[in-house]
Amino acid sequence: MKIGIIGIGFVGLSFAAVLGSKGYEVLAIDSDQDKVKKIIKGNTPFYEPSLSPLLQKALKKSLEVSSNTEKAVNECNLIFITVGTPTTSDGNINLNSLKAVAKTIGQTLTNSKNKPIIAIKSTVIPGTNHIIKQIIEKESKKKSGKDFGMISNPEFLREGKAVDDTFNPHIVVIGGEDCKTINKVKKFYEGFYKSTVPYITTNTQTAEMIKYANNSFLATKISFINQIANICQSIPGTNVDDVAKAIGIDPRIGGQFLKAGPGYGGSCLPKDIKALISFSESYGQSPTLLKAVQTANSQQVEILVSFMNKVLTSLKGKKISVLGLSFKENSDDTRESVSINLIKKLLKHKVKIIAHDPMAIENTRKIIGDKISYTKSIVEALKDSECVIIMTPWKNYTKLNNKDLKLMKSKIIIDTRRLLTKKKLDAKYFAIGLGSSN
Ligand code: UGA
Repeated sequence: MKIGIIGIGFVGLSFAAVLGSKGYEVLAIDSDQDKVKKIIKGNTPFYEPSLSPLLQKALKKSLEVSSNTEKAVNECNLIFITVGTPTTSDGNINLNSLKAVAKTIGQTLTNSKNKPIIAIKSTVIPGTNHIIKQIIEKESKKKSGKDFGMISNPEFLREGKAVDDTFNPHIVVIGGEDCKTINKVKKFYEGFYKSTVPYITTNTQTAEMIKYANNSFLATKISFINQIANICQSIPGTNVDDVAKAIGIDPRIGGQFLKAGPGYGGSCLPKDIKALISFSESYGQSPTLLKAVQTANSQQVEILVSFMNKVLTSLKGKKISVLGLSFKENSDDTRESVSINLIKKLLKHKVKIIAHDPMAIENTRKIIGDKISYTKSIVEALKDSECVIIMTPWKNYTKLNNKDLKLMKSKIIIDTRRLLTKKKLDAKYFAIGLGSSN
């Protein structure tokens, strides 16, 4: 079986590298030729742990990378579409890349003997698979279910853990219109994954909805625990991590995604909840809970800025060190990063910022430019600073000690991820979710 993957972003590249490393014949396609050139040389266009060596292994084995979509349509049995679906200004998702790919697939199929299955992995609102099918049918003058197959196959991998999640997914969701096509895709996955992986087979629109429900629920859990953390913070001696641990043991709640912090960011949760709100409103629904989740998330950073203003008496002219710029650890991705949002808000108060991140400085510079200074040394970040705020839970920040803090002008730590709770620090220490006397 030959596999096509159209769109080499996080999902596409991780999937291509994992399949290729296992010897599957894979054709990975992207219209961005510079990106293709880089990947052919074994270089990943973003930082993701373990992906680079895996890509190099896949390229040596059976992974071919190019911009030739037609080749994939003519030669592959199963074609995954993994192009981006960014948000438009009104909160809807932009399907332009997906529609352009569908057009090329349709036009190529017109004169092709191949009868591929097209599986959409990109996150798309319910009903999109149907729209894409219609484009392919119109362009090819062929019929879905007879001349080609259509599947919705959402992806659940996380950045920073993309390789692991691709090797060991917690679920495989396959949405389709006919059992024959669904079973072919299921068989492909069964040949690859452990027998314990649960499969959900359903129709295309339900598969599409599952992805939105999944990400929206994760966002809800985070906003919930963040509100609990804010309440804990005003009760002396209270610790949100113990609260989260205890409620997480209840199997009806579950322990994951209960780490309180400055709010969720990244290219997925904020975008997906926004799209689900906009989509449901277009059907006359009022998604009050989803909107509250979103509001709670954007308030979290406002609360931080007010807190800093209070602790520092006034923010104006203060030198502040921001530790962590990426939206999460083990990633250089700064899309919708709460840290970047915080920096933008702090700059309005005319503070001087020095920022540290092991991986995300270049991506931050593209957004913030030289309005702040950057360093790859934590010690340098702390020098003469009047307050340090930990935003991203990079492991290195847990090593901060009193010797490092000596360099600060005034020793104030705000720890949004509670990385230093166990340390005896010679500083004024505040953490999200810790009541004052802790
Ligand atoms: C998210 C989902 O977790 C994946 O299942 C999904 O496939 C992906 O979106 C997607 O739709 O492509 P990702 O955005 O990579 O994955 O990262 P997460 O681990 O979900 O983290 C998102 C944000 O939530 C980060 O800012 C993180 O710091 C924050 N977070 C996460 C918390 O504040 N607390 C938690 O307990 C967990």
